[in-house]
Amino acid sequence: MSPTTTPKFRNPRAKHNFQGRTCSVAAVGSYVPSRILTNADLEKMVDTSDEWITTRTGIKERRIAAESEFTSDLGAEAARRAMARAGVTPDQIDLIIVATITPDMPFPSTACLIQQKIGARRSAAFDIEAACSGFIYALEIGQQFIMSRTYDTVLVIGAEKLSSITDWKDRNTCVLFGDGAGAAVLRSRPNSHGLLTAVMGADGEKADLLFMPGGGSRCPASLESVNSRLHFLRMEGKETFKNAVQAMHTAATEALKRCELDISRIKLIIPHQANRRIIDAVGERLGARPDQLFVNLEKYGNTSAASVAIALDEAVQSGRIERGDLILMVVFGAGLTWGAAVIEW
Ligand code: UT7
Repeated sequence: MSPTTTPKFRNPRAKHNFQGRTCSVAAVGSYVPSRILTNADLEKMVDTSDEWITTRTGIKERRIAAESEFTSDLGAEAARRAMARAGVTPDQIDLIIVATITPDMPFPSTACLIQQKIGARRSAAFDIEAACSGFIYALEIGQQFIMSRTYDTVLVIGAEKLSSITDWKDRNTCVLFGDGAGAAVLRSRPNSHGLLTAVMGADGEKADLLFMPGGGSRCPASLESVNSRLHFLRMEGKETFKNAVQAMHTAATEALKRCELDISRIKLIIPHQANRRIIDAVGERLGARPDQLFVNLEKYGNTSAASVAIALDEAVQSGRIERGDLILMVVFGAGLTWGAAVIEW
């Protein structure tokens, strides 16, 4: 369908589609480390059980990167896979945006390290940080560069080595997280609407629900900070859960409203993979059928900024999304942050 013909939904960006410019996902790719940590393995590490983890979260196993494998390695491999599928060479990449809360180091950015690894010598590169909402934030930022014709090819990556900030002695959190990366190549594609809209939100009042106290300017690394375990993430699970359900529902509803779409028109919903119960509650509030919800958290746990990127890739590669389908992505994370995007695939 041409962006200029009347679609069966409203394109909130239509006024920017001058001369057929749209922002589409040309291809996606993902990569997860090979090492699997099962619930049974965790039973040997902390006072937990497969039964508790499965019923409270839906997670059965997660991937853990090798000591010598960093966020930039995971992100670079996901990027290579997305670029190969898109038929894009490294020198065609204009910009790399990496969403992560586990950069290889505070600076330089992981995006610069990935730029070097994939040989995208021409590209600009920077990181953004919106925790588990990062991939939608990065997509929306990348979209702006495409629609403004500043760049033609933008690589958006969500990559995390959460095992590096997980407190393996805290059963409240260590069962939840995993490592991995997903990437998308953004380009203008004729006869497509692409990224129709993206809602982004934040509430810094609730920053203390999910955070890592150490390592920044407020609490630089010291012997004391390390001994006090301040370089691991901390979470108020129950409050975070409640906020996640509410924010994801509100963001998804707003995104659908902007496109004048009923949930029944959405082929697949790709929610942040934090907890099966959160996904089911959001799906129920949206009035979605269970088969509209994509879930893969049983294999990977919560991979933060990589979560929806990996899920999107798996949904595409398994044939659950085809060109022309409408999809809804919805995320939530520390900050607090949240977001939702509607994409004509
Ligand atoms: O990605 C960013 C967004 N993240 C999220 O959205 C995560 C949101 N939160 C959650 O997914 C859930 O709150 C959790 C899975 C983290 C926890 O589930 P819950 O149903 O809220 O459990 P809870 O924290 O209220 O804990 C219930 C009980 C507690 O025991 P008592 O105090 O009732 O005796 C915990 O100590 O379960 C205990 N518990 C565990 N037991 C076995 C907590 N973690 C574990 C564990 N194994 N791993």
